[in-house]
Amino acid sequence: MQSEKIIIGFETSCDETAIALMKGDKLLINKISSQVEIHEKFGGVVPEVASRAHAEMIRNLFHSSINECGIDIGEIDIVASTDGPGLAGSLVVGYNFAKSVAWALEKPFYAVDHMVGHLSAPLIEHPNMEPPFLSLLVSGGHTQIVLVEDWGKYNLLGSTIDDAAGEAFDKLSRFCGFGFPGGPAIQKISEGGDPKKVDLPRPKTSNKFDYSFSGLKTAAVYFLQKLSEEDQLLKKDFAASYQEAIVDSLMEIFVKAIKETGVNNISGGGGVMANSRLREKIVLFSENNNKNLYLPSPKLSTDNAAMICVAAKNELITNKINIDDIRLSSIIS
Ligand code: KG4
Ligand code: ZN
Repeated sequence: MQSEKIIIGFETSCDETAIALMKGDKLLINKISSQVEIHEKFGGVVPEVASRAHAEMIRNLFHSSINECGIDIGEIDIVASTDGPGLAGSLVVGYNFAKSVAWALEKPFYAVDHMVGHLSAPLIEHPNMEPPFLSLLVSGGHTQIVLVEDWGKYNLLGSTIDDAAGEAFDKLSRFCGFGFPGGPAIQKISEGGDPKKVDLPRPKTSNKFDYSFSGLKTAAVYFLQKLSEEDQLLKKDFAASYQEAIVDSLMEIFVKAIKETGVNNISGGGGVMANSRLREKIVLFSENNNKNLYLPSPKLSTDNAAMICVAAKNELITNKINIDDIRLSSIIS
């Protein structure tokens, strides 16, 4: 694959309709149409509503993406789309739209795993990131420590045995009425709060690299239910303590994995990686321990289609796939 090819990427696995275009290493456009306002009143993503909103949005977003980046539609060389994991009804909209574009333009179609997208996202801003590296992937549905021994050689060292870190933020936020999505809402409320004010657990699991967050959420809910009228607890102190417990848990196990694997390169991705407290701690750790850190900026940590473009490009290059070889099979399968 020639590195100057133009790739268009589609991402609709949850509640963001996202389209991006890349030419070589250059991100031409990265558009995200968020459905936050639609789902906010329900306190969480409603799958059926998300799917319909993607269908209503995607066509206009596609045309505005092409127009704004100033290319001719015929210049697109490869069409890529997330094919999972995610909400089935949401995925099918972006995936089928992308396939239709590939079919109409007679260009190759390439499917990308959403988590490989998050894993590859640092490449957009750090094209020099190379395996081996250890990645902490923290999204709304997943919490994983992945040892990337080589591109395509992904060794899952640990994951959550119950809730994902993002779910821990979202569920407590919903319970407390802090806002949707929970992660950014709790981060905002935490500003200026005392992270040591409320003593919350950092749950352990039997596998040393696995996570568990459901006990933390339950402990926080019990704590609130036991508060009496006279107890003077500031919302910001409670939020900061809860955020700290999630960040501490994430860091403790990730650091253990870094030390045991002995890697020099570390990275991360997924919506929770946009969290400023988590970023602060990971940066501090890498500086104090001489590790090379490759983090996507907050905007590229949450769901986006630029990560789908870069993951597709990286897989095509590292697997030495000739795009002409996938052209026919991808369109008819
Ligand atoms: O990767 P992502 O955008 O979508 C999924 O693949 O799920 O991750 C969404 C998750 C949500 O749980 C959201 O609350 C969380 O990422 N999130 C954050 C922040 N921004 C998004 N969590 C903590 N702090 C943030 N700033
Ligand atoms: Zn995601």
